[in-house]
Amino acid sequence: MEPSSVTTRAAVPPLAARLRDVKSSPVREILALTARPGVISFAGGLPAPELFDAAGIRAAYAAVLADGAAGRSLQYSTTEGDPALREAVAARLTVRGLPTGPDDLLICSGSQQALTLLATVLLEPGDRILVEEPSYLAALQAFALAGAEAIPVPCDEDGLIVEEVERLATAHGAKLLYTVPTFHNPTGRTLPLERRRALAALAGRTGLWLVEDDPYSELRYAGDPLPALATLPGAEDRTLALSTLSKVVAPGLRIGWVRTPEELRRPLTVAKQAADLHSSTVDQAAAAHWLAHTDVDAHVAVLCHEYGARRDALLDGLAAALPAGSVHNRPEGGMFVWARLPDGWDAAALLDRALQRDVAFVPGFPFFAGPADAATLRLSFTAHDAGEIREGLGRLADAVAEAESAGS
Ligand SMILES: Cc1ncc(COP(=O)(O)O)c(C=O)c1O
Repeated sequence: MEPSSVTTRAAVPPLAARLRDVKSSPVREILALTARPGVISFAGGLPAPELFDAAGIRAAYAAVLADGAAGRSLQYSTTEGDPALREAVAARLTVRGLPTGPDDLLICSGSQQALTLLATVLLEPGDRILVEEPSYLAALQAFALAGAEAIPVPCDEDGLIVEEVERLATAHGAKLLYTVPTFHNPTGRTLPLERRRALAALAGRTGLWLVEDDPYSELRYAGDPLPALATLPGAEDRTLALSTLSKVVAPGLRIGWVRTPEELRRPLTVAKQAADLHSSTVDQAAAAHWLAHTDVDAHVAVLCHEYGARRDALLDGLAAALPAGSVHNRPEGGMFVWARLPDGWDAAALLDRALQRDVAFVPGFPFFAGPADAATLRLSFTAHDAGEIREGLGRLADAVAEAESAGS
């Protein structure tokens, strides 16, 4: 690596206290290791680049940068977001069962920014926020940056245990629950209907607010869609619903949103003004153009067909690749499968051996807000085709065999 050209002998100012408890993401560090050519990576939650509609997105940018349109697309714009984009997103959410008007939405720079903004607006240092155990790592980072303490809620193979939510909300005086109820990251789990209803009713009864993060529900390969928490009795007026174009269009656009009850719109908008004035005008305009000129259902159907085949390829070979006695789930959609090696195995140590054989996954430990289960791992099946997935599983089996013969 080149030495930095900006070095200083002066002591840097002390870092703000809010940064002290924010851990760097080992997942992003693993992603850097897996970026080298030849690695078959089950590590990142990356959409398949060959399935991006590059031609359609290129045409959308050309249209919004054409004479007559470019002046507006390249200008500063409103904090709330491009009206045509909010209109298109609201229409799609409504058709998919979450009644939404354009004014209910604040466009954000990825749904990740929505997490930062809501933490800024709703969490004081020392506040407690309930999270699934394990949970989406960068949400944990956003809450830590706000100085909040994440309280892990025990989950089973179907996700949150609602009685535990109630017990812990009371015990810790938590005002918010952050949840990814559909095709959860990192576990792929989906909260069944009865639990959704119970959680929504609990919110209504106790005043707990829900943050429903839903990047994955459009990517369903089997089974029937489930209603969003934000539509269920008790939760309708106390849910912040987040989603994004990252998984069904392209993450490089950095376009997400938060659907919020009216009272929180203004505070979230003010927080966004202070953060970045507004999300990129040209990217929003191109996204709005793409949504208006694309058969989005047909595009999503192609993704689901291809990702479904990739999921099947991973599920068909995973048990044979992992050590005997391992367990894994079979999610009906999303991007992730969650596995647990037998007691005594350490997924991080197995990753070292796997990387030597040019195959990668993410150990589960960084996703835990409480004590980590070192035997867990997350595998993503979206970034490689079925043939590469089979090849990757073969390499993983070799790494496991090597670990077994080395006695670790
Ligand atoms: C659960 C969850 N929430 C939010 C995000 C952030 O997505 P983006 O900022 O690209 O919209 C991700 C990305 O992987 C995610 O898995």
